[in-house]
Amino acid sequence: MSRRRALGLGMAALAAAGWALAPPSTLRIADSAREPTPWHALDAHGQARFDLGHAVFNTSWLPAGSGGGRRDGLGPQFVATSCDACHNSRRRGRGPAGDGPLPPDMVVQVGQRATDGSVVRGHPQFGQVANTAAIEGFSPEARIEVHHRQRTYTRADGSRVLLHMPVYRLHGSEGFAPEDLVLMPRVPPAVLGSGLLERIPVAAIAEAAAHAPAVRGRIAWRETSTGRSVGRFGWQATEPSIASQTSAAFAREMGLSNPLHAAIDCAAFDHACLSAPTGGDPEVAADLFAALVAFQQDEAMRRTPAAAARLARNPGQARVFARIGCADCHRPAMPTLDGGTIAPYTDLLLHDLGRGLADRDLAGRPVPSLWRTAPLWGLSVSVESGRALRLLHDGRARSIEEAIAWHGGVATGARMRFDALAAGERQALLDWIAAL
Ligand code: HEC
Ligand code: HEC
Repeated sequence: MSRRRALGLGMAALAAAGWALAPPSTLRIADSAREPTPWHALDAHGQARFDLGHAVFNTSWLPAGSGGGRRDGLGPQFVATSCDACHNSRRRGRGPAGDGPLPPDMVVQVGQRATDGSVVRGHPQFGQVANTAAIEGFSPEARIEVHHRQRTYTRADGSRVLLHMPVYRLHGSEGFAPEDLVLMPRVPPAVLGSGLLERIPVAAIAEAAAHAPAVRGRIAWRETSTGRSVGRFGWQATEPSIASQTSAAFAREMGLSNPLHAAIDCAAFDHACLSAPTGGDPEVAADLFAALVAFQQDEAMRRTPAAAARLARNPGQARVFARIGCADCHRPAMPTLDGGTIAPYTDLLLHDLGRGLADRDLAGRPVPSLWRTAPLWGLSVSVESGRALRLLHDGRARSIEEAIAWHGGVATGARMRFDALAAGERQALLDWIAAL
């Protein structure tokens, strides 16, 4: 489909949804190479909804009362003003470039360390997320800086990998930060193809757990208002659906109430936040919310022809990946509800990867942390973006090799088998992973 035609359809859909108030400059349709593509055929109605959802994804929200029409109500405190500001063209976020203030696309979720050492999500002083930006007349909840301590990882054959261990400093707006505050820094993951992860049957996730008992994968059961469901989204699989993840993002990261979250994420006693003017009830209207969810459910995972050719040229590497145990967690084939198969390179299960990767409280004590096997499909999109690579939940790994070196806990065996490969074999596997 040509760029002009896509844009035209998008505009028609926008007008139909009463979005015409938005000046055209906010309709930031991505550059043509990144035109979103659905993974299944859409009829005219589906295509119009897809285009509207894409526009909502790219929309910068404005403060209440600023004449933003259907796209106001931002904040008063927030982290970023659009989905695309963090998931630029649905790719992974930038993550920390180096030492200093956290980049604007990083989200620091917060928790409280209980006396038994476990973590309860949320904190009375911040809510669920430490908001680092605010609209005029309000103050951000916190300013956060990251510093990295370098450490050398040495393999038995003498080869070395330089690792960067992040240490965070938080300056709360009230001048103090409690020691029991647990920081959960998170880089925005790529969301290309995320909708397909929603279509993996629960039975297949349970089967993956039974298939590789040594890596002790656990289903991320979550209690929701409609009963128990399987957590699939986020670095710790906290959210069971695209809709719940989208709703949480609006409420927490952008301060926008929406059909699934009537309240935004204010700190418990922050009266200024709790009584701030609103941009409607809810601020994100149901039709826009539904289109945004449908867009994400329908968008395909993409890989450039060059990356696809590199994968196809090296089928032997898939066997190495499986032989050394990477595929026990990063599962190359998962079924979908409609009888298809996808290759997300995840089991959607939670694993303990050891203390090195655990979240910490402000006193520096690690807390028990289980991570969802990160889907590796789409890594080629990150590698080819031309941006510095930032891998793992907090973006600490600057290469695939570094990310592997951080694998501890139940992934220790796989890491050691990777280390035991000859240097040339390791490089061939790294090149193959970079094309996924
Ligand atoms: C300030 C940055 C930021 C903004 C704004 C933001 N996100 Fe995210 N997004 C994140 C982070 C960080 C995560 C990982 C969350 C976690 O680990 O719990 C995430 C996770 C996700 C995921 C889960 C992907 C996966 O496979 O795990 C989806 C889907 C998503 N966001 C969609 C959205 C949508 C839609 C919007 C706009 C309504 C949005 N995000 C706004 C930072 C952001
Ligand atoms: C026990 C399960 C398990 C095994 C085995 C495993 N991984 Fe992982 N992998 C994970 C989890 C969980 C994460 C996310 C950890 C985090 O972000 O803190 C991850 C993250 C990654 C990442 C970073 C992805 C991203 O988006 O940032 C890469 C690359 C990776 N693994 C490659 C490998 C390779 C190569 C192997 C084999 C040598 C391997 N993994 C073995 C569970 C596993």
